[in-house]
Amino acid sequence: MKFLILTALVFNFGFSAVVDDYLNTLKQEISKENPNSKGFDSKRGEEIFTSKHIGKKGKEISCTSCHGIDLNKSSENFFTGKIIEPLSPKANSKRFTELAEIEKWLKRNFNDVYNREGTALEKGDVITYIINKDK
Ligand code: HEC
Repeated sequence: MKFLILTALVFNFGFSAVVDDYLNTLKQEISKENPNSKGFDSKRGEEIFTSKHIGKKGKEISCTSCHGIDLNKSSENFFTGKIIEPLSPKANSKRFTELAEIEKWLKRNFNDVYNREGTALEKGDVITYIINKDK
């Protein structure tokens, strides 16, 4: 029992410390431009994650085209068919544990779907959605 509690704590610390840090950095960036900003919103994040757009390759896609709807399950890359492990940190303890990895993929994946990089607000919203989604 003690062991279980301990692993749960270690697990939570792993991803939440990195994500908290990243979200705080984004917040600082935003408040420089807009001191009245109200923080991140997972409802807006859901729209960013699930809405379809004509992406970089001229096909209509969304984040869910590669990551699926149920973020606790693995899914397939829309273009290559390769397996992508679950995006939710609740199902995949490797998620959101490395800042460089998060930034690299957000940059690339926003370009895939939106043909541009995400703004600090969009990145914060979509991460808030991903890490809080039940499944
Ligand atoms: C064309 C396929 C594709 C699309 C579309 C896509 N992703 Fe990804 N995403 C990947 C791949 C491939 C990886 C890296 C492999 C992995 O981590 O499993 C990745 C990794 C990530 C990660 C890294 C998380 C971590 O710490 O491991 C995040 C965050 C992410 N994607 C968010 C998004 C968001 C937000 C969108 C929509 C704007 C999106 N993805 C759209 C394929 C895609």
